[in-house]
Amino acid sequence: MKNGSSASAPSPPRTGRSVPDFNRRSFLRTSVVAGAAMTAGAGILEHAPSAFAEERHGGITRGDAAILRFLAAVEIIETDMWQQYNELCGIPDSEVPGGSGNDAFTEAVATLDEDMAQYIHDNTENEMTHEQFINAYLMSKGAAPVNLDRFRTLPGSKATGAQQIGRITNLMQLTLDTSWWVRYRSRTGNPDLGDTFPNAIPSLAVGQHPGIPRTDDDLSDPNFLQAIANTAGFHFPSIEVGGTSLYPSLAQRASSVEVLRILLSIGGTEVCHFQTWQDKAGNAPPVSATDPVTGTPIMFPDLNSAPFGGEDFQTNLIMPEPCPFLSRNLPVCSIIRPTETRGAAMGALKALTGMGIFIGQPDAFFRFMAELATQADNARRGVS
Ligand SMILES: [Fe+2]
Ligand SMILES: [Fe+2]
Repeated sequence: MKNGSSASAPSPPRTGRSVPDFNRRSFLRTSVVAGAAMTAGAGILEHAPSAFAEERHGGITRGDAAILRFLAAVEIIETDMWQQYNELCGIPDSEVPGGSGNDAFTEAVATLDEDMAQYIHDNTENEMTHEQFINAYLMSKGAAPVNLDRFRTLPGSKATGAQQIGRITNLMQLTLDTSWWVRYRSRTGNPDLGDTFPNAIPSLAVGQHPGIPRTDDDLSDPNFLQAIANTAGFHFPSIEVGGTSLYPSLAQRASSVEVLRILLSIGGTEVCHFQTWQDKAGNAPPVSATDPVTGTPIMFPDLNSAPFGGEDFQTNLIMPEPCPFLSRNLPVCSIIRPTETRGAAMGALKALTGMGIFIGQPDAFFRFMAELATQADNARRGVS
């Protein structure tokens, strides 16, 4: 692979499709859908219901296909973000090609943990395999894969080490909800029971902040460079906490046991990602800075000291604290939260959009993603 776009392109199964009762009629309908997905994008949504209205032996239900298509799109988006981080503060190599590294930014990120570059590399490779596997599985079942290549139009970093290619995501105008920090430390609150939580880093929720150096000018002030590295450090778990909830939320509506197995198996690695990153975020050094380009202030507090501190903020509480689950009448339980299945896909899309990572994308992108989310949220367990 020479660049990020090839890293994200679906890889057709090399051994061909295996759909046992693959009749010509379903092939033609499926081909229309696949073609629409590759070229016209939204075309897939107009044709998908007729293509997947029946459950074929060896195939998957329309609902399962919709769940997997939304997840494929999310994984493509994850890969696009992680690829940009890997180019600047990870380890570009044959497993994760593209970019050439940025020593100053890599060093600032390593303040959080000396193994950050390796973890960033491995997270990036994981996301590439998630999107490639899900798309290949869809195709193996005669269902249409997802392709977002037409939305690889956003400019990326101009700093040393970054590839100069079009991106799907924008990592330079982030606005981050870091309430997951408290959500996983609270012993009394669960978002599925209506509880809300304060942000760990309030200033990340206000204004727009770069998670990568925009140009080499961002490398010159060590204080601001550390603020960018800390922003990245809190963006990583903000990404992965979404997948941690999304997979178990959607799994509750999978019809096929094999699709359920895929969701449980990939979902577990998203939990691994989140667990790793929330541990590292707790190592972000306290720093205050002002963005020299936008004038936006940014402040990372000591989370172990007042007005923070206590169990809701303590940095070494990295295991999910027990909390109410299903009912406050039942004993507290250490769990992933939220896992409410209703509206899970649209909720995930809203959370991603709220980060500012799609700033610059056209309406067609949001329409396409919203349709995929709606189709996934309409999936019903046991309904073909
Ligand atoms: Fe993933
Ligand atoms: Fe992930």
